[in-house]
Formats: sequence, C-alpha cells, structure tokens
Amino acid sequence: MESQGHHTNQAYCKSGIMSPEYLRGYDKLGSEDVNRENESRAPGILPVPRTKEEAKQVYDRLSKFYDYTLGLLGRKYSEMALERISVVEGETVLEIGFGTGHCLKWIAKLVGPAGKVYGIDISPEMIEKTKKRLEKEGVANRAELCCGDATCLPFNESAFDAVFMSFTLEVFDTPEIPRVLARIKKVLKPGGRLGIVDMSKENGKSVFLKVYEWIHNKCPKYIGSRPIYAEQCLIDAGYQIKSKEKIKIFRLPAEIIVAIKAMPGNAV
Ligand SMILES: C[S@@+](CC[C@H](N)C(=O)[O-])C[C@H]1O[C@@H](n2cnc3c(N)ncnc32)[C@H](O)[C@@H]1O
Repeated sequence: MESQGHHTNQAYCKSGIMSPEYLRGYDKLGSEDVNRENESRAPGILPVPRTKEEAKQVYDRLSKFYDYTLGLLGRKYSEMALERISVVEGETVLEIGFGTGHCLKWIAKLVGPAGKVYGIDISPEMIEKTKKRLEKEGVANRAELCCGDATCLPFNESAFDAVFMSFTLEVFDTPEIPRVLARIKKVLKPGGRLGIVDMSKENGKSVFLKVYEWIHNKCPKYIGSRPIYAEQCLIDAGYQIKSKEKIKIFRLPAEIIVAIKAMPGNAV
C-alpha cells in the first residue's frame, strides 16, 4: 500500500483499476454542486447540509474514539451484512466509507492472497487507523485505500465483484444517494453484489427514530447519518433486490440489503 500526503483529496492507490478520469485530476472531482431537483422523490428524508470539508473534519475527529463508541455499537450488524454478500477467495471487493477498517480487514482475509480489497473514505485519520489495523493483521498487501469523496468513484467500469457499505449510504445528502448508487453500479461487474446496512426510515413512526431525527436536526454537521429508504433508492437506481432483513439497533429500525447489478438481458 502506498502512503502519500493525506491532507488533500488524494489517492493512496494507483492501481490498474483506477479510472483515467481519476488519474487526470481527482481534486476536481467530488466538487459538483448538490442538485436538489429530485428531493421531492424522498419525502421526509432529512438533509445533510455540510460540505465535504466539514464531513472530513468530523470523521477525522471521530476516528480517535470511533472503535469504543459508534463503531462498537454497529459492529455486530456490519459483520452480519458482510456475511450476506458471501465474499470468496480471489474476488475484488470495494468498501465505501470503511471507517477504522474493521470490516475491510475481514474482507482482506476473505479474498485471500489471490484477491484484493479496495477502500475509499473521505477521512485521512480513518484511513490511518485502517492502515495500522491491516498491517497488524498482516493483510496490508491485499488492500488499496483511497482518500476521497465517494460521490465520484475513481475506479474503472465493472472492476468489482462486490461493493460493501456499512452505515455509510445514509451519510450522503439526499440528492447524492442516487448519484452514489449509479456510480457503484458502474464499477460493479454484471451480476455483482452490493451489500448495505443502514438506518431505515421505513418504520417512520418509531419514537426512537423520531428522537434520533430530532438530534440529527439539531446538529446535522456532526450527526450526519439519518434514516433513509435504501430499498427504494436501490430499485430506483436499477438494482435487483436479492434479500432484505429488518433489524433493530438499540430500538432504532435498520436493515441489511443485498442488491444485484443485473446481467445484460436482466437475468441475475
Ligand atoms: C458512520 S461511518 C461508518 C464507518 C464504518 N463503515 C462502520 O460501519 O463502522 C461513515 C464513514 O464514511 C466516511 N465518509 C463520509 N462521507 C464520505 C464520502 N463523501 N466519501 C467517502 N467516505 C465518506 C466517513 O469518513 C466514515 O468513515
């Protein structure tokens, strides 16, 4: 794994699957204005009104105690979701928003020496934590980590057998979610799996969910995550839903979804 300056939107990875668009100048990517035209299609989903720089700073700070707080609370569910995409030896897998790398480490173990795991995260400090974890586990040579905004995925088309997102789709602002899902679809191979665990808005009447949303509303810059309708977003983006499980995380409604990028001709 290469380590380069990490206080700008730069890549740590320079592998053969990086797209030429990315290599031409990544700093220009990820700076597109948020287009709120489609927001009416997601009624009741709270906005995440923060800049990428603010997001980066928040997660950099959070990285110091993430493993003892939020990371610890969600770990069991992240692992459950990872199991559902059945990663096997030799595969090429991408994790978006990998945090301190707990799942990324497992993916590196599952793909084995013949496979590869790629990760993209906006926070250089999260990346540092992940690098240390991978080195400690002896799997750093199976991983390539990029520092950047996943609304612009810097990889070639059909590069991945599977993509994984654990409590990350819900940190993107509402108009960004379809964009992220479209870009994931592009980099997935036909028939490739997308595994997601996220906070769900589907049980909108839950008191706990309402309290959580109230807190998000008070400080959306710091509490970026909020419940979303992930299944509908996936269907709108053209994925086929393979499985969906409703779960509760300390009484908060959540879900684990596996979606498939359809094969040409629509046969999965
Ligand atoms: C709530 S944490 C989840 C971390 C980890 N996946 C887990 O389950 O513990 C969200 C992660 O997404 C990253 N992130 C936030 N916005 C991002 C963006 N625009 N592009 C890439 N990563 C982003 C954060 O730095 C953080 O590591």
